[in-house]
Amino acid sequence: PSNRTTLIAGNWKMNNDVAAAAKLADELAQALPEVPAGVEVLVCPPTIDITTVHDRIQAAPIALGAQNVYWEEKGAYTGESSCDMLKSAGCTYCIIGHSERRDYFHETDEDENKKAKALVAAGIVPVFCCGESLEVREAGTYVEHVVNQVKAGLDGLDITDPAQLVVAYEPIWAIGTGKTATADDAQEVCGAIRETLVEMFGAELADGIRVLYGGSAKPGNIAELVAKSDVDGALVGGASLKAEDFSQMVIKA
Ligand code: G3P
Repeated sequence: PSNRTTLIAGNWKMNNDVAAAAKLADELAQALPEVPAGVEVLVCPPTIDITTVHDRIQAAPIALGAQNVYWEEKGAYTGESSCDMLKSAGCTYCIIGHSERRDYFHETDEDENKKAKALVAAGIVPVFCCGESLEVREAGTYVEHVVNQVKAGLDGLDITDPAQLVVAYEPIWAIGTGKTATADDAQEVCGAIRETLVEMFGAELADGIRVLYGGSAKPGNIAELVAKSDVDGALVGGASLKAEDFSQMVIKA
């Protein structure tokens, strides 16, 4: 909110083969021939589906993002995709730092920092994820934990426009569990993230950077989440896999 454009972003994770991705992209393009003023829509399919989805949503007001990137320019990095490759396939955003990447693929803050820098240099907007585990939440140190992730992951990032960066707060205990953080919980941490962005990038840039909430966001809770002053949209997993649910979220945001 405030003067920031609300961003509703879908993270399809490892779901949808090429045919299923084409179908969902068609359904989304049909459900969202236009989006409400002040709202932006983004979908992030698996890498293998990006080109297909690009072709299907081209005429719709839906932006395209990737779920991962490697920071090197090219060469012997089996299995990876570079920033320029994502760009050539039509991506304008890329998710980095998701807790699933950090946990299952052992990515570190340093890795996320390299990815963030490479993306910004290539003109792709990083959707930088951060968030605490249940253990950290219960220990009460979650704000500090998230602030440290933001400081480490975005250290030295060279941005001159707030549109060059999106941050997503995703408490791990709320991801895929049906247990959404309350809107007040989301605001508490998103507010602390914005204060950190003020320290790092100055008040003017920080005021325009979108800070999203992620974790069991759905049609039934999106409105109260984005009503909070520092919650500028949502990064949506499960509910982004159904065109009806996702488009409802866009309309209600
Ligand atoms: O990146 C989105 C995310 O991790 C939240 O997933 O399924 O709880 O909406 P979900």
